[in-house]
Amino acid sequence: MEPAQEPRKSVLEKGEAGSLTGEAILNLNRDALSLLKENTREHNFEGRTHRFTIPSAEKYVFQWFWDSCFHAMAWANFDVPRAQDEIRALISGQNGSGLIPHIIYWDQSKLNLAPWSNHWSETQGLLSFMPFAEKPRTSELIQPPVIAEAVQRVYKASSDKDFLREVLPSLNRHYRWLKQFRDLDGEGLIKIVAPYESGIDSSPAYDAVLNYTPGKGLQLPIKRFQVLFSNSLMDHDPTEVMRQGSFHVADVLVNALYARNLQVLSDLNSEAGGMKESRYFENAARDVQSALITFCWDDERGAFFNLNGRDKKRSDVLTIQSLMPIVIPTLPRYYVDRIMNEHLLSEERFLRPFSVPSVAASEPTFQPDSRIPGEIFRGLWRGSSWVNTNYFIAEGASQHGYDDFARKLALDTIQMVRDAGFYEYFNTETGEGLGAKNFGWSTLAVEMVRFLGGGR
Ligand code: GLC
Repeated sequence: MEPAQEPRKSVLEKGEAGSLTGEAILNLNRDALSLLKENTREHNFEGRTHRFTIPSAEKYVFQWFWDSCFHAMAWANFDVPRAQDEIRALISGQNGSGLIPHIIYWDQSKLNLAPWSNHWSETQGLLSFMPFAEKPRTSELIQPPVIAEAVQRVYKASSDKDFLREVLPSLNRHYRWLKQFRDLDGEGLIKIVAPYESGIDSSPAYDAVLNYTPGKGLQLPIKRFQVLFSNSLMDHDPTEVMRQGSFHVADVLVNALYARNLQVLSDLNSEAGGMKESRYFENAARDVQSALITFCWDDERGAFFNLNGRDKKRSDVLTIQSLMPIVIPTLPRYYVDRIMNEHLLSEERFLRPFSVPSVAASEPTFQPDSRIPGEIFRGLWRGSSWVNTNYFIAEGASQHGYDDFARKLALDTIQMVRDAGFYEYFNTETGEGLGAKNFGWSTLAVEMVRFLGGGR
């Protein structure tokens, strides 16, 4: 696929984005590197010592799929062998049929013994929480498939073809698994079978499928647990869960990142001389893009919406998912312009003091700090802003020629992280850092420095 060739756009006043001093960039890099080092853990597996980065010592002590991809991208700025090891550790969790799971429980002594803990319901072996039962090493879920672009980023930092040839077969198997097991009817879109699979766990986009009404104490975690528990009654058999699971969503963010990464995977295969694989993944990328446009685009609202359930009922909640197809380099200009002008540049929706909110400010469920009134636990993705989605939005805007927007978003994000610290997420109205401290993927801010120079 050829990237859209259109004139570059200037959407904000020249100079409004400002710039960072060299010293500020040095400090950002120093702090990011020290956090990545602090969150590094080592474990032995099958005779090899693996190194990987945990999201946060405070809250998340295992290795998560998309977190690790972002960590590898950040590591590529400082230490390429370390970035390569991050990918190797992640791939070591791949199962026999090709799935690279969303969590590897390296330190099994840290698995919560409670049977109702998520970790037991997202793995095979329903009774594995019993004291003497064999403990699971990985989950059976996916996360947004961004490993191809993480590998591309690491490869670009060194041009190490041996590394590329070493990891490509595992990547190819993972993306083939997604196509085979998550798109049973071959329409192009992959489906998620639990909210955790999108990484946007508590998004109000899932309230309808979960049959959840906000404000009832512990309802949200209970509803999510019910989904995982019913999947575990099928022992997470991928075909069974796809046919009968209670949660079945064609998520726009997952599919947008899938389409983008299929194209990257095609490029990586062609770089390594695998032309057949390259063509296969390029066609797959094209199919996902067309399916997103055909099934998920709402021309009246100028945005993409998830499809809920096997009868593909379109969601009507405007969230960050709705905008994510701008990460696809070949998305036609018509869709890009509408997403930019009607949403990302709209103060009533996504242009907030500390953008980009995970839910449009115009939605009744929007909460700038993601706290759901009446619920005991904070909801995470219900309005707060996050560095990883900001990175993707800046990348999408920049590749489609909205350089000034990308530059301003990058500068604001970097400044937010510098002022508040590497928090998990941020209050979209005040910039306050929320959730876990010393959160690994917020170091992606170092990857956003390249947008300050006016894009690529
Ligand atoms: C939360 C986030 C998810 C992330 C995980 C580990 O569940 O919603 O996206 O991967 O934490 O950081």
